[in-house]
Amino acid sequence: MAEKAEGKPKKNKVRWADRRRVPEEGLERFEEYLQTYSRNRNHPVKILFSFYKGTQAKLLKACAYLVLQRSPVWVIPIVTSNIINAATNRSADAVEIILFNLLIALVFIIQNAGTNYLATREYAGVNRGIEGSLRNAMVRKLQQLSIMFHKEVQSGRLQSKIMRDVENVTELLNQVFRTLFFFVLDISVVVVITLQKSPVVFLFFVVVVPFAVLTMRAFRRPITEKNREFRDEVEHTQGAVAEMLEMIPVARAHGLQEVEISKMNTYLNRIVNRGYSLDLINALFGAVNWVVFQAFQVICLAFTAYLACKGEISVGEVVLYQTYFGSLVSQISTLINIYPQISKGLESVKSIGDIMGETKVEQNNSIVPLGELKGGVEFVNVDFKYPDSEKWVLKDFSLKVEPGESIAFVGDSGAGKSTVLNLLIGFIPPVNGKILIDRINMVNLDLNEYRHQIAVVPQNTILFSGTIIDNIAYGLKDVSEADVWEVIRKVGLEDLVEKLPEGLHTQLGEHGDKLSGGQRQRISIARALIRKPKIIVFDEATSALDSVSEKKVQEATNEMMKNCTTFLVAHRLSTIQNADRIAVMKEGHIVEIGSYEELMEKKGYFYELKSLQS
Ligand SMILES: Nc1ncnc2c1ncn2[C@@H]1O[C@H](COP(=O)(O)OP(=O)(O)OP(=O)(O)O)[C@@H](O)[C@H]1O
Ligand SMILES: [Mg+2]
Repeated sequence: MAEKAEGKPKKNKVRWADRRRVPEEGLERFEEYLQTYSRNRNHPVKILFSFYKGTQAKLLKACAYLVLQRSPVWVIPIVTSNIINAATNRSADAVEIILFNLLIALVFIIQNAGTNYLATREYAGVNRGIEGSLRNAMVRKLQQLSIMFHKEVQSGRLQSKIMRDVENVTELLNQVFRTLFFFVLDISVVVVITLQKSPVVFLFFVVVVPFAVLTMRAFRRPITEKNREFRDEVEHTQGAVAEMLEMIPVARAHGLQEVEISKMNTYLNRIVNRGYSLDLINALFGAVNWVVFQAFQVICLAFTAYLACKGEISVGEVVLYQTYFGSLVSQISTLINIYPQISKGLESVKSIGDIMGETKVEQNNSIVPLGELKGGVEFVNVDFKYPDSEKWVLKDFSLKVEPGESIAFVGDSGAGKSTVLNLLIGFIPPVNGKILIDRINMVNLDLNEYRHQIAVVPQNTILFSGTIIDNIAYGLKDVSEADVWEVIRKVGLEDLVEKLPEGLHTQLGEHGDKLSGGQRQRISIARALIRKPKIIVFDEATSALDSVSEKKVQEATNEMMKNCTTFLVAHRLSTIQNADRIAVMKEGHIVEIGSYEELMEKKGYFYELKSLQS
């Protein structure tokens, strides 16, 4: 991205057309998922099936491999039965029969290794594909959702949807697909073979199998309950650990380490206790399960042995039914046991819908092309209130700003200054009235085209973990180091950067933790300046800066106001002396407007504020 300053500095010119190309990867599936979610809002099963759209051929192949993979399970009991019969009958061709059956068994067993692999290759490919494209689609959708949506929804919840919910869905697809398929296969094979060989045994199965399963199930319920409790506890503790980590500097600063340790201990002890009782109950019910299963096995054995005594079935078939009985019981109980997993997966399918089905998408009409922005802005009778509140934050707000003009907003906290800036960026649309950009109503603009020509320095500086140059040149393709140095000089950071061992390529740490508040803010200003925007929107941080930093930020701000239309929210009145006009705001209105000198002369509200600060 960046080249050395002494090399040929490339001009920072990225054509709009180059930037607006939407990344193709996953776009097609994205549209499909959107439709699926809007059509089947409350039918997670339908949604789940629609994920498989277009993968039918692969799934069919997977099913074929799965049948082959599973076949030894049905064949081995038959082979065993044949071999035992041959051994007990001691007929002349017994050895031949044994060898023949052995051969058959070996063939079925050996092919399993290959088909197992092939089956997994097919359906895991499909499922992993769904996992990837689902996450891709969610990321895409999150980038489209309005800033209001993101302000309302906790980012932790969104993260968990992208990571955990999608994981649950993949697990559901992987596990359930296989388990259900094997269930259907096993049951059908056992039913067909048993019915054909001995209807009496079949009847026995019909009566006894559900009974065995239900008994086992009855003992399972408390375990599920305990497991859930344990998981809840672990999740709580996870939250507490995260909070503790975040609070470490605060706790240390107040000498409260002991308090934190004992707070954590409460959680940790609860996990220990819950975990211990879970282990106990697991062991107990594992044992009960085993007892029930074995008891029914023996009953089945006695019953079939009795039939064999009466000559109704052969001795080999006793073994055959013994195995089939076991397989029936375990298949049905597996199915019952994966039920919680199924419902968890389906919950996750719905939970993903909170993103994919969300309608608060940023309106982007792009009816009128903006072309090159000149920087004229006009608010015409704008009213605004937040959706969940009754109070009008702005009422009948009008303001005309000429290209190149700098305008500063001052006023009490909560007066609506940041709101004006958010309207200007298009984060929130006016409820009534309109905003004109170069005389074009903003609702008719392509917001992306517009925003590529403005720059924003938000009230809370947002830096990411990366180098200084990464943070300043964020999102720009062709930026030379010379360009970066130029803006660094403009914001007065050259002393700092020159002293750093790795200069521009110094890592900033998470959220730029290695910089001071004032330095972070100047990086943010540099990020705005390097874009050579036509409009700059600067929401000054409320946090106090030391006088040196303040002076430097002020110089950077002056630099900013030189070349473009500037909207500046200032908390330090000294910052705004150079602004062309100052708008004094109170409860959503402009109460005074004029140059610094004019307002001071007027001795009105601004004068009052100013004398309060000095
Ligand atoms: N997301 C929101 N939902 C509901 N009300 C909001 C929201 N954001 C801000 N407000 C309200 O809107 C009003 C104006 O807020 P705004 O952030 O514009 O004030 P401000 O002038 O920038 O204040 P400050 O100087 O403290 O930054 C405040 O009363 C605030 O409580
Ligand atoms: Mg504000």
